Amino acid sequence: MDLSRKLYRLSRDLFPGGVSSPVRAYRPYPRFLARGRGAYVWDVDGRRYVDLCLGFGPLLNGHAFAPVVEAVGRQLREGSLFGAPVEREVRVARRLRALFPSLERLRFVSTGGEGAAALVRLARGYTQAPGVVKMDGGFHGSVDPLLFRAGSAATGLPASAGVVPVPRAPTYVVPFNDAEALEELLDERKDVGLVLLEPVLGNVGTVLPEPGYLRRVRAITRREGVLLAFDEVITGLRVAPGGAQERFAVVPDLTLLGKAIGGGLPLAAYGGRREILAHVAPEGPVYQSGTYSGNPLSLAAAEATLERVNASVQRRIEAETRHLVEELAEVFRAAGRPVSLPTLGSLFSLFLTAGPVRDAAEARAAASPAHTSLLRGVLDRGVFLPQSPFETFFLSTRHGARERERVVEAFSQALKRSPARQRGARRPGRRAPPRRKRRRPRTGPG
Ligand SMILES: Cc1ncc(COP(=O)(O)O)c(C=O)c1O
Repeated sequence: MDLSRKLYRLSRDLFPGGVSSPVRAYRPYPRFLARGRGAYVWDVDGRRYVDLCLGFGPLLNGHAFAPVVEAVGRQLREGSLFGAPVEREVRVARRLRALFPSLERLRFVSTGGEGAAALVRLARGYTQAPGVVKMDGGFHGSVDPLLFRAGSAATGLPASAGVVPVPRAPTYVVPFNDAEALEELLDERKDVGLVLLEPVLGNVGTVLPEPGYLRRVRAITRREGVLLAFDEVITGLRVAPGGAQERFAVVPDLTLLGKAIGGGLPLAAYGGRREILAHVAPEGPVYQSGTYSGNPLSLAAAEATLERVNASVQRRIEAETRHLVEELAEVFRAAGRPVSLPTLGSLFSLFLTAGPVRDAAEARAAASPAHTSLLRGVLDRGVFLPQSPFETFFLSTRHGARERERVVEAFSQALKRSPARQRGARRPGRRAPPRRKRRRPRTGPG
């Protein structure tokens, strides 16, 4: 029996679902990984995979990137935590500000979710308006006021048990790519202080903003006197060195960064306009703190990563991603299977539908057991990729022609074996089976 399977048995006794984060669990058992190098990972049974998951995004330069290994090793020997400011904090912040000029000031934290919670608190403290608008399908970490997805009314329904709607601090959910819906909502509700969105949705697959959408959102929020925050945890350093705000030339009031900026170690940051950040403690009344905030190890990895972020690296990784997507599109065409492969920068994803997917509702409608079975088939053929139709795939600077060939071959083989129609799809005249109860919320982090 596979060692992964054995370990999963032990894990299920120890951890809910056998994992430390929900989307790592999949059927029949998740592969336990032992090591990674460049574009590859190896599981505990010695199988090698091209990695398109990359830790759910952070590893822009692949696994065990030598400059990161060296910088972190050196820092570890010199001390890993001081509970005091360090010089590198200044250097890394200045590099980030050079890439994201909207980050006039910022605060380092350890995870994207921690940053999102702090950002919401800051917006509420600054505007004195409690309401928050997020997008259907937008994911910002396991943060109570943001764990809502669309309901039929404007106020969303919680995506998780234990999240309690707070009438005096409401979370409103509107569809992505629908500026009118946002406009109507802000027209009606005067208690909103913050609109928070992923400028490219990355947690329902990849959903690109339609031309002009982000600009309209910026114009509407400015007109209504509401803060606009971009969650660039996925898009930062990936859709352009300066994220979606550079790519689409739209400047938010606040920005959240995470994943890639830490070079594989836990680092995130939130920041934005100077006068807003002046409200953060100890300068202002909005409290936020963290023992590991701006820790030297993460900063060492961040600096080694940020030193190598530039336009020419971006062009290369983007060209490689586009090349892969084009070859995959050809594989689907040859197999006579509809597909949509949205891509931007070093992100892409897969929907088994011909039309473009414009929002979370369309992404959910496109998901099917056939999709899950295809992902499983690709995994079995040596490509490590998230086993959910609602995830984004990532490339690193270490992926090239050889890896592309392996990925294309794996998809090509898996498509031959995977059913075109949903298994269990109804034949005409048959009654619909009873709906299965959904046991797990689908919104989820890596
Ligand atoms: C867009 C986005 N924001 C925030 C987060 C939360 O980040 P973390 O998992 O580091 O808390 C995620 C995690 O996947 C994310 O995709």
